[in-house]
Amino acid sequence: MGTIRTAIIVSSDAGYAGTREDLSGPEIRRIVEEHGYQVVSCKILPDEQEMLEQEMKRIADGNLAELILTTGGTGFSPRDCTPEATAAVTERAVPGIPEAMRAYSMQFTKRAMLSRSTAGIRKRTLIINLPGSPKAVRECLEFIITELDHGIEIMTGEASDCARK
Ligand code: MTE
Repeated sequence: MGTIRTAIIVSSDAGYAGTREDLSGPEIRRIVEEHGYQVVSCKILPDEQEMLEQEMKRIADGNLAELILTTGGTGFSPRDCTPEATAAVTERAVPGIPEAMRAYSMQFTKRAMLSRSTAGIRKRTLIINLPGSPKAVRECLEFIITELDHGIEIMTGEASDCARK
């Protein structure tokens, strides 16, 4: 299989304004690169649904990455809108990934139930929302990443069934 290209989108008003250093984007980069994926872009955007949608569409429609990982904007703050942006641009929902992240994360903090994280597919790009802190990114991404290769192979047509070797 070819290298999985990954685009990172950080949704954070403070990160975009430069008043808070973004540590979650670099944490995503570290984990995906350790897993052999290539990071093709990392963009910090404010919690603005339209801007988030535009960036997701640019990457998916330009076939620039097989995977988009977002971080932040999944909570209850009135500004949090990453799940809404993701749902608006994806054609097929992938509920199992956020379900698994929340279930697994409950051992670390019951506040995992407060993440409204979603996931879905647009064309040949899988989009997954991760929560906003580097700790939450680490806990969620290290848990799911082992299964993403298989899903992405099926999505891109490089594997045609789920039979295990
Ligand atoms: N998931 C894990 N694994 N670890 C965490 O520390 N924090 C939770 C939750 N998910 C957390 C987690 C908290 S406190 C919140 S408010 C939500 O994610 C939403 O986070 P976000 O608004 O930064 O996206």
